[in-house]
Amino acid sequence: MILPSFIYNERVKNGQLQKDEAQQKTVGLLDQLCKKLAYYRPAESSAGLLGTITNIWKKPVEVPKGLYLVGPVGRGKSMLMDLFYNQVPVQHKQRVHFHYFMQNTYKRFHELKKLYPKGGDPVPQLAKEISKNAWLLCFDEFQVNDIADAVLLGRLFQNLFACGVVVVATSNVNLRNLFQNRPGADAFKPFIKILQQNLQEVELFATRDYRTGRPEDEKRWLFPINEENRAILDHVFLRESKGKPVKPSALQVMGRSFIIDETADDVARISFEKLCGSALGAGDYLALAQRFRVLIIDDIVKFNAENLDMIQRFTNLIDVLYEQHVKLYVSAESNYEFLYDQKDRKAFFERTISRLNEMQSQDWAEK
Ligand SMILES: Nc1ncnc2c1ncn2[C@@H]1O[C@H](COP(=O)(O)OP(=O)(O)OP(=O)(O)O)[C@@H](O)[C@H]1O
Ligand SMILES: [Mg+2]
Repeated sequence: MILPSFIYNERVKNGQLQKDEAQQKTVGLLDQLCKKLAYYRPAESSAGLLGTITNIWKKPVEVPKGLYLVGPVGRGKSMLMDLFYNQVPVQHKQRVHFHYFMQNTYKRFHELKKLYPKGGDPVPQLAKEISKNAWLLCFDEFQVNDIADAVLLGRLFQNLFACGVVVVATSNVNLRNLFQNRPGADAFKPFIKILQQNLQEVELFATRDYRTGRPEDEKRWLFPINEENRAILDHVFLRESKGKPVKPSALQVMGRSFIIDETADDVARISFEKLCGSALGAGDYLALAQRFRVLIIDDIVKFNAENLDMIQRFTNLIDVLYEQHVKLYVSAESNYEFLYDQKDRKAFFERTISRLNEMQSQDWAEK
């Protein structure tokens, strides 16, 4: 078995990675887990008569604690987890973005539910199926988005751990803060306990954001408008607001209230239709830009002769966001260069394009 630390040190030696003490400590923990997993098999996987008989004479094996790597963005959490995943001598393993895992889990949950008599509980069966396929689960960007997730996750993970599953995950949110400050949060607390019992939380305070200076790593103008990009923005929202509670905010502009439904900490999220499709003006945009550090806009459509008032508002908006240095994330029908491809007024939109260009750079976001 080649341990993660060996590969990590090799990469440091050949200059692929910069030496980082916090990362090295974490790699040490990943080494230990690798070693433990080399000798571990969940009880379930030795099923069958023979397995059952031999197991009677053995002490029940202790399930190794998994790891929960948590920390700010770009610290190398995903990179280290992948390193571990590639080295760990386990055949039945799966590495998956948590969002996709949840999608598949819901799909299978509803299929099983149909097969069960009314009131039957498909969760134990679901956990069995998942653990049979892979008993080492590595989740990138673990998060709990809504009450439906919270309810299913609690019971599912309880069953998964009972099957002897080991979990390694990366996240921007500490275990104790998962799904907190939201309606139903109290009901989720027992699940946090279960996670804390089965996962060792490791805070990765690497010295720097290793993404800096690499504009290709973070795209903030996402297109086209689809489920995948929506999910990325969901994650951005959670990450940038550090999991703080989501609530509406009212901005007072010239004696009126401008209400934004989804805000958390210094992050706001709003649809393009609401922001540029109604009678808002530069004053509203300025209030928005002064109040929030990060703005997420969903579903920007292309401009045409029918929505010319939108293009005017959008241009105003970008001017204000640029001047106030707001970090902007969007989902749009197309890249910004092609938002307006009619000949007339092209020059007028050029400045917006140029500003958006500058706003995409990593330098600009870090300032
Ligand atoms: N020690 C290092 N030296 C050089 N590059 C590094 C180092 N650590 C990480 N990187 C690189 O920095 C980038 C960001 O790392 P990674 O994606 O693992 O961060 P993360 O902590 O998972 O961030 P997020 O919370 O946003 O998912 C990657 O391209 C990774 O390869
Ligand atoms: Mg990551």
